[in-house]
Amino acid sequence: MNKIAQIFHSLDYGPAPEGPDQAIAWLDSHNRTFGHFIDGAWTTPGKTFATNNPANGTELAQISAGTPADVDAAVTAARAAFGPWSALSGYERAKYLYAIARAVQKHSRLFAVLETLDNGKPIRESRDIDIPLVARHFYHHAGWAQHADREFPDAVPYGVCGQIIPWNFPLLMLAWKIAPALAAGNTVILKPAELTSLTALLFAEICERIGLPKGVVNIVTGEGETGEAIVSHPGIDKIAFTGSTEVGKAIRAATAGTGKGLSLELGGKSPYIVFEDADIDSAIEGLVDAIWFNQGQVCCAGSRLLVQESIETRFIAKLKTRMASLRLGDPMDKSIDIGAMVAPIQVERIKDLMARGGAEGAVIYEPDNMSLPSAGCFLKPALVTNVSPANTLVAEEIFGPVLVAMSFRTPEEAVALANNTKYGLAATIWSENINLALDIAPKLKAGVVWINGTNNFDAAVGFGGHKESGFGREGGREGMGAYLKPKWEKDLKPTPASAAVEPSARATNPLDGHLDQTAKMYIGGKQSRPDSAYNRPVFSPSGTPIGEVGDGNRKDIRNAVEAARAALGWSTTSAHTRAQILYYLAENLDYRRDEFAARINAQTGEDGAGEVALAVERLFAFAGWADKYDGAVHNPPLRAVAAAMVEPLGVMGIIAPPSRPLLGSIALIAPALAMGNTVVLVPSAQSPLSITDLYQVIETSDVPNGVINIVTGDSVTLAKTLAEHDGVDGLWFAGNAEASTMVEKASASNLKQTWTSRGLYYDLADRRFEGDYFLSKATQIKNVWIPYGA
Ligand code: NAI
Repeated sequence: MNKIAQIFHSLDYGPAPEGPDQAIAWLDSHNRTFGHFIDGAWTTPGKTFATNNPANGTELAQISAGTPADVDAAVTAARAAFGPWSALSGYERAKYLYAIARAVQKHSRLFAVLETLDNGKPIRESRDIDIPLVARHFYHHAGWAQHADREFPDAVPYGVCGQIIPWNFPLLMLAWKIAPALAAGNTVILKPAELTSLTALLFAEICERIGLPKGVVNIVTGEGETGEAIVSHPGIDKIAFTGSTEVGKAIRAATAGTGKGLSLELGGKSPYIVFEDADIDSAIEGLVDAIWFNQGQVCCAGSRLLVQESIETRFIAKLKTRMASLRLGDPMDKSIDIGAMVAPIQVERIKDLMARGGAEGAVIYEPDNMSLPSAGCFLKPALVTNVSPANTLVAEEIFGPVLVAMSFRTPEEAVALANNTKYGLAATIWSENINLALDIAPKLKAGVVWINGTNNFDAAVGFGGHKESGFGREGGREGMGAYLKPKWEKDLKPTPASAAVEPSARATNPLDGHLDQTAKMYIGGKQSRPDSAYNRPVFSPSGTPIGEVGDGNRKDIRNAVEAARAALGWSTTSAHTRAQILYYLAENLDYRRDEFAARINAQTGEDGAGEVALAVERLFAFAGWADKYDGAVHNPPLRAVAAAMVEPLGVMGIIAPPSRPLLGSIALIAPALAMGNTVVLVPSAQSPLSITDLYQVIETSDVPNGVINIVTGDSVTLAKTLAEHDGVDGLWFAGNAEASTMVEKASASNLKQTWTSRGLYYDLADRRFEGDYFLSKATQIKNVWIPYGA
């Protein structure tokens, strides 16, 4: 056989190595030893550690371990730079972002090679995906810098942002963090991952070269301890973190009560669902990208294959054939599919997980025609079958080239299996039936859904998770919003004593103040007695007992959450119907305004009529929003649209402020309900009767059972139970600073989204609370990517 015939026969590629020379020359120009980049200058290297090439174990450079003093110097520089930087016109900031984008493009090969040397990912990926997306992010955000004033008219930047990123997409994660922060007018301290800091340091040099004002971008390298020093630094206004769920939870707890902004982009175990009518060859190619892109070290990796039973055997056989043709080896070879894992520790971690999964009964397939390079951190692609949902390999994020496969029979079963995880980052659906795909997409608990495609990313389209995959979005309008806060927040004052009335304790003598009528709880559409069988007296301002309510406890909250979960069909009720019901609630409340006004007056001595009128108006306002606060359709630069769908959080716990017994609750539940959440409401502990009077109004207004549940009692005790409850998706707490800290800390357990008033006075009568302030907090955006074209 001649050579050409041989090539046709084997379809083998020859090696196509990329040269490392320029990257090595850049490292040498820094004597292969780096300090931090602070205030526009390089610090003298302090205590250093090695960063290695995982493909062969050789040392690339020494980088500095950032100390608290380094972080402090970076914060000082960023603070000094913040005033002038945020005062620049949007156009001026846009020009800097544009200059960064151009410089990244100009030096794209250098960035790509350095990234591959430091991280081990195939050069094909760093060259064709990571670096072009980095440039795209800076271009996109140059535009936001210029238009932010117009598009976010009541917002200001946070100030100094601390940003901590992982090692799987070192420069891309930097771009996702730095581009929106700078566009919004913030200054930053960024800590790259200890395993992959080099492209961040090259980026620092780009900032220097394009003349970015000093202190706007500071890069401090180091390990977890350096990250902790950033998280705990009092001079930092917002923390943005991407990494493991474990560290994300620790950061949530550490920032509780500080008032720092927080966005967390954490782990995942994303389902990859293949229906029997899918284009199977495309679905196989998609799967290669979903799980073997970047060796599976991807937070949104499609690591759980769910394939319809009728095609399972055929699909798995084809997949195994495809796996055997993947090329594994030197990541600097341009025709390699699978490069090196980031570090020996990751290889060990994955081997350990696989041993555990195997011991639990999993069958592991690895192509036997594939050999591993003699040195470096390599793992073969693996396919895991014969697993139940409880198997370690199904439940845990592996973060490696390991796919677990399960089958399903019906679409309902596919959804149930897909959502059976603590994570909720991404999901993929393959089906030629667009009706089916679009029916499934909204049912998946994930921030991103790809239809007939996978791993699509764009700067204009938000990315982020549900549940333990974190909160906040990066990219697009949502991502910009995450780096801005309302202008008026800085003017908030502590709650005046008159509005922060202490909740009434149980009467010293439990028989005192006994009245004939005791208001019950309202759970699942029924009035129920408190589980504790204790009641709490309610007093007039002069101290006369005027009523009693149940003293709610953990069991009452559990029952209420269960009822609220069972009522989640509310989230798919049409927005028009939700609006109708809120209007009806307003109408029925208005009908009984005199009675409600008298009750407010009896509890607080305040103008009851005015408060009822405001509550009715607020219900009207959010009835009006129900079908208007909606999503967008993005046009990313490929043949696809991304539908940004506004979705409710799910079950929300709402603890109303002590003051304004009626409006305080209505102003918070109305936006939550309008957006499709179900609610467990704890009304003012001091003056709960305005809400216990509401039961009949709720019942006559067609509110489905379980959509509004009301538990009376001590606000702080009940808030703690709600914060610790894994069935609660979002929690709002209006109360003092100490309890707000407790709520935020306790919410770390399942990373529920919180809003707390931290002892500050939010005047809920203000019309600024009639709009997107609470609507945005009651919702999250899901981006559904839909390709088009034949
Ligand atoms: P990690 O979460 O420990 O590290 C991410 C970043 O956080 C790094 O910059 C690290 O230095 C920093 N960090 C670590 N501890 C910190 C602390 N207490 N306070 C502040 N910053 C801290 O992730 P790691 O150990 O590198 O990887 C472990 C596992 O985490 C992976 O196997 C994978 O399962 C998951 N992971 C998920 C990522 C994602 O994108 N969702 C990215 C990286 C890891």
